[in-house]
Amino acid sequence: MKNRIAIIGCGNIGVSLLHGLMQDTQTDASKITVTRRNIEELDYLKEYGVNVITDNKKAVNDSDFVIIAVKPYNIVGILEEIREMLNPGKHILVSVTAGVSLKDIQDQIKVKIPVFRAMPNISASVGKSVSCLSHGEAAKDDIEYVKNIFNTMGTTMIIDEELMQSATILGACGVAYVLRFIRAMIQGGIQIGFDAKTASEIVNQTVKGAAELLIQRQVHPESEIDKVTTPKGCTIVGLNEMEHNGFSSSLIKGIVASYEKIEK
Ligand SMILES: NC(=O)c1ccc[n+]([C@@H]2O[C@H](COP(=O)([O-])OP(=O)(O)OC[C@H]3O[C@@H](n4cnc5c(N)ncnc54)[C@H](OP(=O)(O)O)[C@@H]3O)[C@@H](O)[C@H]2O)c1
Repeated sequence: MKNRIAIIGCGNIGVSLLHGLMQDTQTDASKITVTRRNIEELDYLKEYGVNVITDNKKAVNDSDFVIIAVKPYNIVGILEEIREMLNPGKHILVSVTAGVSLKDIQDQIKVKIPVFRAMPNISASVGKSVSCLSHGEAAKDDIEYVKNIFNTMGTTMIIDEELMQSATILGACGVAYVLRFIRAMIQGGIQIGFDAKTASEIVNQTVKGAAELLIQRQVHPESEIDKVTTPKGCTIVGLNEMEHNGFSSSLIKGIVASYEKIEK
């Protein structure tokens, strides 16, 4: 059983994954090693038993499951640095770095180990990510193992690698789109009479509840909208006003603009 985990380049998403892992009661923090160059930023993790070091090679050597979480411009250097420590039969490598293909990773490491790409999002830190995974040649057990690790941080799905950029936009950047939507609703709530804290509480729970409705009932959003929109009522008037101002169109255009940017 592989249970020693290294997170190489533990920044925003690395820390989110770590927090998600640590929420799982089965996880032994002393078996997790995290790295970055400025480790003082991660000092607080030591009190939970996490190994915090700058030495990427040691982190890989002390683990069997390696998550690479650096920016795309850092990954080649990291892979060159750690490749001599990667051991077939021991290691599984998962990259969450956007835009770097399985083939590019495999070409850099030059050893035959199972390589995965994962696209989680920062909600991993509260166990609510959706993580899209794709992989090259890998045994069934290894695929199950990687899925199980990411399942501790939310839900997981396997997708074709060619959809990884789309997963980055919809799932990872998607958190930012939703948060901006939430912020706008809070601002509206303040204008119609609530203080910021109360407006946030109402909006956060409303968004959570709406998502939960769709997840649990497996229904289309519009069928639930129909239940809220009384003919000639205030909801449909508000919704139509939003659409006249380009609400759906602006969201779709934003998603497509992000996608065009990532594809460049
Ligand atoms: N943020 C998200 O929501 C999210 C979600 C899914 C995927 N991703 C992808 O994950 C990748 C990282 O994103 P991020 O937002 O987490 O970036 P980030 O906060 O900048 O984290 C990257 C970390 O890598 C560390 N690093 C750089 N060079 C290193 C080296 N040689 N050795 C060890 N650590 C090194 C940096 O710390 P030092 O400078 O201290 O070394 C930094 O903390 C990106 O490709 C992104 O697309 C991000």
